Amino acid sequence: MTNTVEMKDIVNLCQNRWFVYPWSEIYGWLANSWDYGPYGSLLKENIKNLWLKEFIQKRMDTMLLDASLIMNPKVWEASGHVGGFADPLMDCKECKARWRADKLIDNKIEAWESEPTWYAGDKTETVRLDEIVKEMNISCPDCKATDFSWIKKFNLMLKTFLWVTEDGASQAYLRPETAQGQFVDFANVARSSRRKLPFGIAQVWKSFRNEITPGNFIFRTREFEQMEIEYFVTPGDDDEAFKLWKTESERFFLEVIWLKSENIRFTPIKQEELPHYSKEAWDFDYKYPFGWWEIETLANRTDYDLSAHMAASKQNLAYFDQVNNKKFLPYVIEPAMGLSRITLAVLCDAYTSQEDRTYLKLDPKVAPIKVWVLPIVKKLWDQAKLIYSQLSEDFVCEYDEVGSVGKRYARMDEIGTPFCVVIDSDNYDAGNVTVRHRDTMEQEIVAVLDLNTYISDRLK
Ligand code: GAP
Repeated sequence: MTNTVEMKDIVNLCQNRWFVYPWSEIYGWLANSWDYGPYGSLLKENIKNLWLKEFIQKRMDTMLLDASLIMNPKVWEASGHVGGFADPLMDCKECKARWRADKLIDNKIEAWESEPTWYAGDKTETVRLDEIVKEMNISCPDCKATDFSWIKKFNLMLKTFLWVTEDGASQAYLRPETAQGQFVDFANVARSSRRKLPFGIAQVWKSFRNEITPGNFIFRTREFEQMEIEYFVTPGDDDEAFKLWKTESERFFLEVIWLKSENIRFTPIKQEELPHYSKEAWDFDYKYPFGWWEIETLANRTDYDLSAHMAASKQNLAYFDQVNNKKFLPYVIEPAMGLSRITLAVLCDAYTSQEDRTYLKLDPKVAPIKVWVLPIVKKLWDQAKLIYSQLSEDFVCEYDEVGSVGKRYARMDEIGTPFCVVIDSDNYDAGNVTVRHRDTMEQEIVAVLDLNTYISDRLK
């Protein structure tokens, strides 16, 4: 059995099996843009629902918010995004590929396994980055040339226009993170919910960034989904809350969606590389076929954002602590996960290739289709449809009457469907069907009347 998954295997399976399609393909594809097909949408939705269950439904101290994708442009001036949300990019003069200089430097250092002593100082300055690229003899990952353009900072904000005219006054942005919604609405939520600290406000949905460097399939896209919690605490309680969310994030990855522990690591971001808003931040990385990359950033954002919005909006965003009769701005711990990146990690973890078959060993909870219903003979099509109706009351199912049984099994395996319900004459006449299990390929006879309970017991 081999299981060293390559990106080309994942991309092929996703495109052939309705998980992910190239964006607006009939008009020509645009880099870093993908559409989720029928199974990809369900897979992503299941991961999102598990996150909502763990962090909203099961906790007493969190609430959900749905803020607008286009916020008042002043939000992004106050948050620092208009001025500073930029990647240092450089172009290979030979093959014209565009790269993030800081990432190529990080990769080289990771290959050396330790930092050279001269590698110090402010790496946010493009001039210093230019020097480092030369000193390290960094080469283009595509064509290996070492001649690059000067590094320039590109702002990642996607612009749009409001109102009728397309002049500067009406320019707005598609949000590059969900988090600012929580900060801007903090006073409203705190007042109307009458919650006491600590409490979290969460958002799940789209964010947009004008990503120009190579995307690695759905890993880095222009439009993606985030699952972010802004957890507001009394200053001084922030270090404890940081530890809490580290444990919660680990639990989510390892015990809720069951990523393999050897593919997850948690590393501190160096002080000089911290984003402008944070006091401490750690990355959760997943070991993709193209290397270790971030799936979550956990940050202590202090009161940076609330202070910035209070100063810019001239509104009082302070929290009133009735017990101690004090007003203050809370600190914020932010576990910020990328749903699209987690979806890709789940696919990579599940991809299993054996000599005679390829299948997705998805946890049944995240599998897009839970039960695949297949009649063996034409005269049982109607009965099989009734069984489909019975099962689809409780589970997302698929009905499939076309092709040999072997081919139908192969289709369901590739989609990661954990259970296949086979309807044949002998068993059906006795009130039974056969349930075939994806991973072991074992088959069990189950009474039609017990079928829903049988499946739901195995989905827990
Ligand atoms: N509010 C903080 C924030 O947005 P971030 O590290 O920039 O922090 C959080 O983003 C998560 O969002 C990342 O860990 C990643 O999983 C996901 N993410 C960021 N940019 C992405 C992109 N272009 N495509 C897909 N996911 C992305």
